[in-house]
Amino acid sequence: MKAPGNTRILVWDLPTRWFHWLLAASFAGAWLTGDSERFRDIHVILGYTMLGLIAFRLLWGFIGTRYARFADFAYSPASVMRYAKSLLSRQPEHYIGHNPAGAAAIFLLLALGIASGISGWLAYNEIGGDWMEAGHALFSDLMLLMAGLHIAGVIAASVLHRENLARAMVTGYKQGEPDAAITRKRGLAAILLVAAVAGFWGLWFNGRLDFLVSAQPAGQQEENGERADDD
Ligand code: HEM
Repeated sequence: MKAPGNTRILVWDLPTRWFHWLLAASFAGAWLTGDSERFRDIHVILGYTMLGLIAFRLLWGFIGTRYARFADFAYSPASVMRYAKSLLSRQPEHYIGHNPAGAAAIFLLLALGIASGISGWLAYNEIGGDWMEAGHALFSDLMLLMAGLHIAGVIAASVLHRENLARAMVTGYKQGEPDAAITRKRGLAAILLVAAVAGFWGLWFNGRLDFLVSAQPAGQQEENGERADDD
């Protein structure tokens, strides 16, 4: 929690950055296709992608580089409160990795991503009935709300600390003391992550994952039933 030095240092490894932007894109895509029968398969595949990405992030939270590890940003509620209070002072606490408020949002986002993905899978496979569908809608709405708060928090912290946090999530670099830098980008792990996502989508495009998207959405079944009744 030092004041930022003025050396350009590597903070976010490649897997963390690629995970982040792939998760943001998958969530945005899943959100936009959520209500559409036409894009239902894409919605489901994006849901699997999100779950896979989060599974990777859970692993990376233990074996990733310094600031990607959960141990680096597992703050107590008291730290979150202290950080929130410090924002009102002239000298807000500065963190090289995730700050306590951001960390709380991140854990919530990961938990909501899991809840939304699993409830979506269950609802799609008609397990849990209307309750499951309502649960899936609720988790997804809460995730959208958290993502909005997260983006607002990123903008606020960027202004307060006069550092562009979004750019750091793209380049991996921030200003800091040289001894706070991570030393490895972990490119191989990032390539494996992207290859796994691309491979999954490639298999789906080639019709090899039809068993994952074979459940018939309830609305469509009703429609088909009605049509069968009409005939
Ligand atoms: C334009 C949109 C977004 C921007 C600019 C953005 C920016 C950022 C930044 C700067 C961080 C690092 C925060 C820090 O310095 O402590 C971060 C972390 C994170 N963001 Fe976002 N974010 C966006 C959208 C999203 C969305 C839509 C989600 C989830 C659905 C999301 C989930 C996360 C997660 C899980 C982390 C933690 C990264 C990690 O340690 O693995 N973000 N985001």
